[in-house]
Amino acid sequence: MLLLDFIRYQKNLTGTKIGCREGDCGACTILIGEIKNDTLQYTSATSCLMALGNASGKHIVTIEGVNVKGLNEVQQAFSNEGATQCGFCTPGFIVSLTGFSMSSKDPSYDSAIDAVNGNICRCTGYKSIERAAKIVNDKLQQRGDNDALKFAVDNNFIPSYFLKIKERLKNLKPVEQGEISTSRHLGGGTDLYVQRPEEMVEDKIDFLFDKKELKGIVKIGNTCEMGAAVTVTDILESEIFNKYFPNLKKYIKLVSSTQIRNMATIAGNFTNASPIGDFTIFFLVLDAQLILSDGNNKRKIALRNFYKGYKSLDKKSEEFIEKITFELPAENSFFNFEKVSKRTNLDIASVNTAINLQIVENVITAASISAGGVGPTPAYLSASSNFLIKKKVSAELIYALILKVQDEVSPISDARGTVQYKRLLLSQLIKAHFIVLFPEMPLQNFLYA
Ligand code: FES
Ligand code: FES
Repeated sequence: MLLLDFIRYQKNLTGTKIGCREGDCGACTILIGEIKNDTLQYTSATSCLMALGNASGKHIVTIEGVNVKGLNEVQQAFSNEGATQCGFCTPGFIVSLTGFSMSSKDPSYDSAIDAVNGNICRCTGYKSIERAAKIVNDKLQQRGDNDALKFAVDNNFIPSYFLKIKERLKNLKPVEQGEISTSRHLGGGTDLYVQRPEEMVEDKIDFLFDKKELKGIVKIGNTCEMGAAVTVTDILESEIFNKYFPNLKKYIKLVSSTQIRNMATIAGNFTNASPIGDFTIFFLVLDAQLILSDGNNKRKIALRNFYKGYKSLDKKSEEFIEKITFELPAENSFFNFEKVSKRTNLDIASVNTAINLQIVENVITAASISAGGVGPTPAYLSASSNFLIKKKVSAELIYALILKVQDEVSPISDARGTVQYKRLLLSQLIKAHFIVLFPEMPLQNFLYA
């Protein structure tokens, strides 16, 4: 069952609210405590998309669990700033910001705001919430090098029982899921519980999210290997990814919310097969390879060959992605990702695209371009990519490339835009790639036209 339903209907903890049941509003936000690298760490998640099975062995904190005598520091800041009106969203905001107060990362006002980027309020207009977040962040600036959890307890952010949780978690006996015969594999659940909530409750599920062999990001030579249960947050915090993709934070800011990024897996984004899957578009230009397993046999397939048609995969129902590998960009590589959606954050792309170029002595020696939202599958644009080889970057080349790209895509009109709009968007985003990647070149005057 869903963690949200367990919390509300089995535990009768009704402070956790139900808004959308699709991960969009944040009213159902809870914190998940786990021991990682011998420290207890908390992340936020939307309980409406989290399987109870994925809570096994973890400390789940609801709004009731952050109560102290009187108001805690986050609640007090909300009260002082008038940051709550009807109150429906408030538990979610309080839980998210309390999680922020317990994080060992250096606090800042921007990261306080990021902590609530998955929480929506329909009453306050947000300004009062931003002021409350500022108060919380100002208090955390006094923490210095002190232990984050201890500081949060000593300064009235959370009750003292949190200091005993690490020991309690250590003493929990691990529950191993035995052999299970099922074709329903579950990662973070952020898509399956939106698409098929009823079916999921009836299914036998193989929980992949916490399998150790599906975790981790490592660099072996020039190859990056990552487990299929790596989350978007894992990538965001990965030293390897941040080194090789310096604009990673900018790209990921456009992808869902903090709560969802903490749960959503990269392999889930691939198997979801959405024509606008952000990470599918990102990894298509890196020529990612997938290792599929049915539990016994494994096989390798290129992500570029994984899609057979709309929502149709080259994957047997008993197979799941075990590992993802790709070559890290070389020093002379130019990588960029662009996305346009109706609203900037927490939205599905209308069109997205990525590019990866290698340039030697001003000549393009390797090129990959992908585009989403312009066909039935996430598209690797092979003809357009090949067109760039042995050419020099110029405004003329980019205009010619745009014509090639337009030949290679076939968008349809839908809720995210008309055919004409999507074609226009893609042309503009192709220009954006070059404007971002070659700021020194005099392309802007031509391309902004
Ligand atoms: Fe809206 Fe969970 S109920 S995010
Ligand atoms: Fe009413 Fe936020 S206070 S939705």
